[in-house]
Amino acid sequence: MKVAIATIGRRAAACLVLLLALVLPPASAEQRIDPAADQRAFQAYFRQAFPSVALNDFANGPYAVDKDMRKQWEEIMQFPPYDFALEDGKKLFETPFKNGKTYADCFPQKGIGIRQNYPYFDRQTGEVVTLDLAINRCREQNGETPLPYQVGDMAAIDAYMASTSRGKPFAIALPADPRAFAAYEKGKKFFYERRGQLNFSCASCHVQAAGKRLRGDILAPALGILASFPIYRSDWGSMGTVDRRFISCNDQVRSVAFKPEDELYRDLEYFLSYMSNGVAIAGPGTRP
Ligand code: HEC
Repeated sequence: MKVAIATIGRRAAACLVLLLALVLPPASAEQRIDPAADQRAFQAYFRQAFPSVALNDFANGPYAVDKDMRKQWEEIMQFPPYDFALEDGKKLFETPFKNGKTYADCFPQKGIGIRQNYPYFDRQTGEVVTLDLAINRCREQNGETPLPYQVGDMAAIDAYMASTSRGKPFAIALPADPRAFAAYEKGKKFFYERRGQLNFSCASCHVQAAGKRLRGDILAPALGILASFPIYRSDWGSMGTVDRRFISCNDQVRSVAFKPEDELYRDLEYFLSYMSNGVAIAGPGTRP
C-alpha cells in the first residue's frame, strides 16, 4: 500500500514536471537576463559603426558623427547657450530652503560630482531613482513643493549638478537584486519595442539609423545619448531635461507619451545609462 502511494506521488510529480515543461517557455540563452553582455554588444555595435569616434565623444550626439554640424557647434560653444541656466542652477542649488537646509544635505558628497551614478536602483523602495526625482524628493523632504520636471529650475539645477561631474564616466550599478534586473529589462523592452502610428522603436532611429539625417536633424547614436543632459536645444529655444526629450521623441512617432518620471521612463533611463557606462558626463550640452 505504502509503495503504491509513493508511486502515485512520483507519477504525479513527473506529470507536473511535464506539464510545466509544456507551459513554460524554455530558458534559452536569449531569454536569460545578462545586462553585462548586452552592454558589451551595444557598445561594440557603435564602436564598429563609428570607428573614428572616441568613446567619450559619443556624449556629443549628432556632433560626434557629423563634421558640418561639429563646426557649427564649435562656434556656438564660444558662448554656450546653457550658461545662463548653469548660473541659475548654481544659485538655486546653493540657496537654502525655508528650513535652512540645502540640496547638498540630501545627496552623497553634498551633490558635487555625482551625476554619473544616476539613475540608481534603490533597494529600499525597489525602484529606479533618477537625479531629477531625487532633486524633487529632496525638496519634498524639506517642505518645499516639487518642481515641474521638463524645463526651468529643474533643468537649471540638473545642469549645475552635471557640470560638477564632467569627465566622470557613467558608473551605473546593477545590484544583484531581481527587482533591479526587472527594471532593467522593462527599460530595455521599452527601447526596442515598436510603437505609435509610425511603428518605430527608439532603436529604429537611435541604433539602426544613428548618424543618418531625419529632416534637419542628424540622429544621435544611442551610446552616450544621455551623457550631455540637460541640453539647450535651439529648436526648443530653452533647456530641457531627459523627460522632455523622451516625451518629444514619443510624440515624434505619434505614440502616447508618458508623464515625466513615469516608472517606464525611469527604467528606460536606467537601461540607456547602464548601456553607456564608461562614457564621461559632458552635461549640460547644446544641440541644434
Ligand atoms: C522617428 C525617429 C525617432 C525615434 C523613433 C526616437 N527618436 Fe529620439 N530623437 C530623434 C531626433 C530627430 C532627435 C534630435 C536629433 C538627435 O539629437 O538625435 C532625437 C533626440 C533624442 C535624444 C537626445 C540626443 C542628443 O544628443 O541630444 C534622446 C536622449 C532620444 N532622442 C531618446 C529617444 C528615445 C528614448 C526614444 C524612444 C522612446 C526615441 N528617442 C525615439 C528621433 C527619434
